[in-house]
Amino acid sequence: MDSEPPAARRRLFVQNFGCQMNDYDVERMREVLGARGYDAADRAEDADLIVINTCSVREKAEAKVASAAGRYRQLKAERPGVMVAIGGCVAQQEGDRLLKRIPVADFTFGPDQIPSLPELLERRARGGRFAATEVIEVEDYRFLSAEPRVGQVPVTALVTIQKGCDNHCAFCVVPATRGREVSRPWQEVVDEVARFVAAGAREITLIGQNVNSYHGVGSDDGDDFAELLARVDRVPGLKRLRYTTSHPHDFTRKVADAFRDLPTLCKWLHLPVQSGSSRTLKRMVRDYTREQYLAQIEYVKSVCPDISLSTDIIVGYPGETDSDFAETLSLLERVQYDSIYSFEYSERPDTPALKLALRDNVAPEVKAERLQAVQALQKGITERRLSRWVGREAEVLVEGDSGRYPGQLCGRTTGNEMVNFAGPPSLAGEMVRVKIVAARGHTLVGECEKSGHRLAVIG
Ligand code: SAH
Ligand code: SF4
Ligand code: F3S
Repeated sequence: MDSEPPAARRRLFVQNFGCQMNDYDVERMREVLGARGYDAADRAEDADLIVINTCSVREKAEAKVASAAGRYRQLKAERPGVMVAIGGCVAQQEGDRLLKRIPVADFTFGPDQIPSLPELLERRARGGRFAATEVIEVEDYRFLSAEPRVGQVPVTALVTIQKGCDNHCAFCVVPATRGREVSRPWQEVVDEVARFVAAGAREITLIGQNVNSYHGVGSDDGDDFAELLARVDRVPGLKRLRYTTSHPHDFTRKVADAFRDLPTLCKWLHLPVQSGSSRTLKRMVRDYTREQYLAQIEYVKSVCPDISLSTDIIVGYPGETDSDFAETLSLLERVQYDSIYSFEYSERPDTPALKLALRDNVAPEVKAERLQAVQALQKGITERRLSRWVGREAEVLVEGDSGRYPGQLCGRTTGNEMVNFAGPPSLAGEMVRVKIVAARGHTLVGECEKSGHRLAVIG
């Protein structure tokens, strides 16, 4: 009997930049293309298709893309069959302009085009370079379902609950690149979480640019973010639940209460403040004041005293004075975050700041000084906060090999603090009790009772 010869497998290499939405998108690309014969390549040299998945949120985004693409020019010259595609937020924003600037690119595609990647590859094979940046209307948008496979999922997996963003933070390019906000139906979210757990994931992070404004499909059965958290918390077998990113404007008491009420919800909140000055916040169009933000922090600490907090800070926003900046420093002192991400402001195309004529007018050296001051202050606070763990036992979900310290494993506390400790690789995916013996930089050093002691595996 004649049988079709198996189609030749091809190899896909992805170079990824940016946020967790991009991480999630890369997994969907792998699945969509995997169904069409593409396996993962570890190196660009072995790939038939190279995707550069870009991020546009801060300065030098386009330069980073150009330098990444430059590395593949030689490779393509040697093997003309290799395709280079550019995806993500820079591709969405720049469209045809990116094709002109990056001759090595066969085509570019926006995040909404991921399901169409097989057709885009066929279109390119027929000839002609193009930018596929059509945005799908809110009503027509469908989320791609993840296809987790047993034994092939990470211990901690991402599940998207929304795309896009309806806010207008003046510095931010995301609404221009990802479009209007769409909430994913809760049943899809819960089903996807259950599939990840069934495939071996122990922790789920729900992701979106502004998860607190999640509104489901607009039904009147209490379909909001707090309700979604409660629904996911009930998925059998789920050990830990996290979410990111929150916007203070939509962070309700009901959402804060979940830290007290939901057994799987980790005691960690990333609540970006951006600035400690109400004047600056107003010009950022963030819709809350310093006082309102501090009241939210106070409330969340009252319902969950041991919570770990993190935030994002921008320094050198247009018009930021020394006294505005001093308020950011004093806010850091006041809140005592466990960790922060801090950035110098950079002007981005198509942002409200440009329309509001807020010019990038803080001198580069002042921005650099302010960034340094923020980081120096936070370093001490982080050290103090981490040291509260020393001498205590922490429940750690083991993620796997530390990668950095030979023979060491890594995992996280409920507060998202990274812990390194010695132990066998077989512990990956287990929840273990670890004695914290020291704090080192941003991480904790632990001892899992192994040599001579009982190994405390909790679940
Ligand atoms: N949706 C998230 C943030 C997404 S972008 C939120 O609302 O908080 C991640 C971080 O990048 C932002 O919190 C901000 O601190 C920083 N960022 C965004 N645009 C920036 C810009 N133009 N310059 C400097 N930092 C920026
Ligand atoms: Fe950007 Fe603001 Fe939306 Fe976050 S909430 S993605 S900072 S516009
Ligand atoms: Fe960057 Fe786009 Fe994410 S701009 S931060 S990759 S949504």
